[in-house]
Amino acid sequence: MKLRGAWSHEADALAQVHAAAFDHAWSAPEIAQLLDGPGGFALLVETDQPLAFILCRAIAGEAEILTLAVTPAARRRGLARALVDAAAGAARMAGAEALFLEVAHDNVPALGLYEATGFSRAGLRRGYYDRGAAGAADAVVMRLDLGRAA
Ligand SMILES: CC(C)(COP(=O)(O)OP(=O)(O)OC[C@H]1O[C@@H](n2cnc3c(N)ncnc32)[C@H](O)[C@@H]1OP(=O)(O)O)[C@@H](O)C(=O)NCCC(=O)NCCS
Repeated sequence: MKLRGAWSHEADALAQVHAAAFDHAWSAPEIAQLLDGPGGFALLVETDQPLAFILCRAIAGEAEILTLAVTPAARRRGLARALVDAAAGAARMAGAEALFLEVAHDNVPALGLYEATGFSRAGLRRGYYDRGAAGAADAVVMRLDLGRAA
């Protein structure tokens, strides 16, 4: 198993992992655009096939996790924890002093993961996620202090 950087020409593979992990999948072009945009970077875990990835943006001293996806069969093996830790290191190297994310208030696995990796709750965005007929869901804003960049 290998953890490495991923690039926009690999967006199809990342989109497949995303589609396996989320009801509302992001398309390959959307993922490629974020990766090629300012401060975009991704990290991927793979064997002979991609299993998990994290997509982030680091700009002007702050970084954000845009998405994190682990294919269902590869969960609870520490892949997300490894990706979050590696992304925090990469964001720090890029000069970020804090790493932020938004997570649905009822996403128990993700809340457990972020609490386990040192994030704290920094705010609430009411009605942030549109769930169609099911209404809207609040987002919890979480923050990880990365300390001062060297
Ligand atoms: C959330 C998600 C990324 C976790 O991936 P994962 O590789 O299974 O997580 P890890 O194995 O690294 O778990 C690390 C820690 O997170 C917590 N955690 C992970 N899954 C959990 C669950 N289902 N319930 C409670 N805590 C959980 C635990 O503390 C776990 O440590 P432990 O296994 O030693 O108890 C994965 O479930 C996923 O892709 N979900 C769908 C997409 C999603 O919600 N992404 C995040 C959006 S912000």
